[in-house]
Amino acid sequence: MTDEAIPFLDLVTVHRDLEGELVDVLKTALKCAGFIGGPMVQGFEDDFARFCDARFCVGVASGTDALRFALIAVGVRPGAIVVTVPNTFIATTEAISQVGARPDFVDVDSKTYTMDPEQLRKYLEHKCRWNTKTRQVIHNATGKPVEAIVPVHLYGQMVDMDPILDICAEYNLKVIEDACQAQGAEYFSQKDNRWHKAGSMGHAAAFSFYPGKNLGACGEAGAVTTNDDGVAQMCRLLRDHGQSKKYFHDIEGYNGRLDAIQAGFLHVKLRHLPPWNEQRRQVAERYNKLFAGAEGVVTLPHQPSWARSVYHLYVVQVEDRARLQQQLSDVHIGTGVHYPMVLHLTKAYEGLNFQRGDFPVAEKAAAHILSLPMFPGLSLRQQERVVTEVLKCLAITSVSEPSA
Ligand SMILES: Cc1ncc(COP(=O)(O)O)c(C=O)c1O
Repeated sequence: MTDEAIPFLDLVTVHRDLEGELVDVLKTALKCAGFIGGPMVQGFEDDFARFCDARFCVGVASGTDALRFALIAVGVRPGAIVVTVPNTFIATTEAISQVGARPDFVDVDSKTYTMDPEQLRKYLEHKCRWNTKTRQVIHNATGKPVEAIVPVHLYGQMVDMDPILDICAEYNLKVIEDACQAQGAEYFSQKDNRWHKAGSMGHAAAFSFYPGKNLGACGEAGAVTTNDDGVAQMCRLLRDHGQSKKYFHDIEGYNGRLDAIQAGFLHVKLRHLPPWNEQRRQVAERYNKLFAGAEGVVTLPHQPSWARSVYHLYVVQVEDRARLQQQLSDVHIGTGVHYPMVLHLTKAYEGLNFQRGDFPVAEKAAAHILSLPMFPGLSLRQQERVVTEVLKCLAITSVSEPSA
């Protein structure tokens, strides 16, 4: 076994392998100076909608824009409350605040790290009241209406959508999936006995194509998917200064378009996404086997029977995270923490007056989670070294042999 460095994420190899195709995209755009809108954007949108089993895809400039536009397009108004989880990237709550709404939180499930439907129900039953006249949920403490829920398919893992969608239908709430980390993840719905893609289940969904995502651009990019024609149309207006045609502004919007060159790059990469996701699943399975026997010391990711994760991240929990991360870094193994700080205790949200202990599951996870190297192409040999070093640090000597 060598002491080669193992990166947390290898973005170089994939771009070296695709260089020819990506350069062709650039040449095509340069030849016709097609930088904004046009067939490259449309082509990607059509295929990404198809990939997600959604009727519409609207390409935008980032996942944050996608969230913001989706929130506005489904009808979230300034002054409303939008409920999400505390263990997500701040973009989720930034988008909520940026539409003039107030983020609120419910805790997550301890195994999947995603929104716990029971906690959502408790929130609506105990912290809110139902106004039968307006058919609105009113948050008791603030008197504000709760208008939408943003479940986050974190780490490539699906949220348990059946109960979430049922609760939201019962309480007249819009659902925006934050699918930024979950391109291609699937959920098995008991309602119609079939698998559903991330981004096809809520009123709208937001995707990020930040370079490190399962489907990443060579820069910034994002998309909204939806089955609702009106929501798609509104997102198209919002991304382009509210223009229905050049210089005819139906509303004030934003400069939030998907760059044509990025759309071209994404279109090339989209063809590779299914095999890349499959490789990530294999990497996860190999980690699971290599860690067999270390249960109780290393908590592994949990995939419920109703989910097919795309393992954007492979996240374990250990007691002494800081020590393990340092020791892995000492032997040149890259890791990450997603995320070290829960949002309700983050400085930016001091004004919302949350306390430590408000969301104990998310808080506990934040103190112990560690993301191990995960990318398509991570070799068995590299994984064996990662696992050996983890177990060495945790003073476990036996490593089980993988069967494949
Ligand atoms: C869960 C989640 N939501 C939102 C975003 C925001 O996406 P972007 O960085 O493309 O704006 C990200 C990206 O990191 C994310 O991981």
